[in-house]
Amino acid sequence: MDLPGRSECCWIACAPETAYRCLQESGNTEVAIIGAGIVGLSAAYVLARAGISVTVLEARKIGRQVTGRSTAKITSQHALIYGHLIRKFGVDLARLYADANQTAVARICQWIGDAHIACDLERKDAYAYTCKAMRRTSIEAEAAAARSLGLQAEVLRSAPLPFATAGALRFPDQAQFNPAQYLVGLAAAVKDSGGRIFEDTRVTSVKPRKRWRVTAGRHHIDTEHVVLATNLPIAGPIHFDELTQPRCHIVMAFRATPGQSIDGMFIDIDRPTHSLRMGRDAEGPLLVILGSKFKTGQDGDVARRFRQLERWVRGNVPAGDVAWRWVNEDYDSPDRVPFVGESLPKAPGLYVATGFNGWGISNGTAAGMTIADQIRGRANPWSALYDPARSAPKHFNQGGESKSLTRSVDAIPVGQGGVIKRGKEKIAVFKSVDGKRHVVSASCTHMGCIVTWNNASLTWDCPCHGSMFSYDGQVIHGPATKPLAPRKLASD
Ligand SMILES: Cc1cc2nc3c(=O)[nH]c(=O)nc-3n(C[C@H](O)[C@H](O)[C@H](O)COP(=O)(O)OP(=O)(O)OC[C@H]3O[C@@H](n4cnc5c(N)ncnc54)[C@H](O)[C@@H]3O)c2cc1C
Ligand code: FES
Repeated sequence: MDLPGRSECCWIACAPETAYRCLQESGNTEVAIIGAGIVGLSAAYVLARAGISVTVLEARKIGRQVTGRSTAKITSQHALIYGHLIRKFGVDLARLYADANQTAVARICQWIGDAHIACDLERKDAYAYTCKAMRRTSIEAEAAAARSLGLQAEVLRSAPLPFATAGALRFPDQAQFNPAQYLVGLAAAVKDSGGRIFEDTRVTSVKPRKRWRVTAGRHHIDTEHVVLATNLPIAGPIHFDELTQPRCHIVMAFRATPGQSIDGMFIDIDRPTHSLRMGRDAEGPLLVILGSKFKTGQDGDVARRFRQLERWVRGNVPAGDVAWRWVNEDYDSPDRVPFVGESLPKAPGLYVATGFNGWGISNGTAAGMTIADQIRGRANPWSALYDPARSAPKHFNQGGESKSLTRSVDAIPVGQGGVIKRGKEKIAVFKSVDGKRHVVSASCTHMGCIVTWNNASLTWDCPCHGSMFSYDGQVIHGPATKPLAPRKLASD
């Protein structure tokens, strides 16, 4: 698919490579943290600094997954949320959400200073804007709701953007950074504080024993506490795969044109969503723009979304060439509040964090702090808000069908993938440009749904619970923990 720009995230391209070794022997730890994203490393940092023995097990490389591929706005302004939270949960719980996220903004900035993390941190105002005059009342209502919870919020007649807007909500003194650099720095700080970190270590099972046993390949770790910081939990008594919905966004980074930067972080409240901020790579400033959301694995032509987004940018914002483009995924929860904390009463000592609704930089940091407090037996005010066992509609996740079924291997274009039927089985075939055919089972190893080809990132994406696999079937994103099974074509 001929799309402009490098198919990679600009933050990751600028982050130092890490080289922690993989788990090579079994052992014990007080706390095992599975996943070195913002949740896992925030919890690890707090615990390691408190002198607790922490072991972090990361399936891939640090900083290169959901956190590293976000737009990395560090803010308590989550588009329009506070009016909704007050209506749904009442003022007290809504105030806890504001407090958790505003505290997390400050804590991230503090940790960056304490640990001397070079990650392009900048203080910026956050804006939610509308281009529709009739939606200005929504902005005014949200400002009133946010102020009633103790947040600073101001209504503007328009947003400071290079195109016409009809109103904006401004939260002052929020922040933005390079999230991949931040996680690499936070991991180093965890190690300096006595924590152990293993990369290339995919956990395949978490089972209750006298304590918990965490298994990764041929080795295991026995632990008092286990934190499932895997974006969607891979184990445990609560079926978060049914309680959450995976959703993707596309993101593009354009070369900034001289003298044409925007000052602030912006998200519109209209559809389709656009979110804008400045960033930088080794060559200079970038305009980073996020496009509309879609259910993971339920769009058979993701490349089209990049073309649409570029058209929108060309019509609205001065921008140079496309430098980078990528797809990222997160999980929505039914009530727009994440599920965080100990899985009581069924699984004491097992902690989860998921359903960040695209706002897991601040919520994910607050999640790590909450879990660390729970492990240390300290009261945490946000536990009541995030309670992972709270009542939630079952089957919020509707599942989905593969969008890549095709008649025959011959019908699959070179450079692309498709799913063919062979007897009762479905086979996923990717034809690389060098003429090689990569053939794997199309059944997701999580629960068997048939994957969809993502023609922009060249991945197999599961329409049920969001697992993503490389073109040759390796796991990129869970909840799957095993690769797609290799298959052969009769003609091979
Ligand atoms: C396009 C997009 C833009 C976003 N922008 C923002 C934003 O501007 N501001 C904001 O607040 N939020 C934003 N978010 C949301 C935010 O990025 C996420 O909610 C947050 O980063 C999730 O953090 P995490 O630690 O759960 O996940 P991750 O960062 O993915 O960390 C989970 C880690 O667990 C590892 N793992 C998974 N399975 C296993 C296993 N079996 N064994 C070992 N390790 C495993 C993974 O490899 C990964 O490193 C955005 C989301 C998207 C999709
Ligand atoms: S992620 Fe659950 S079936 Fe694929």
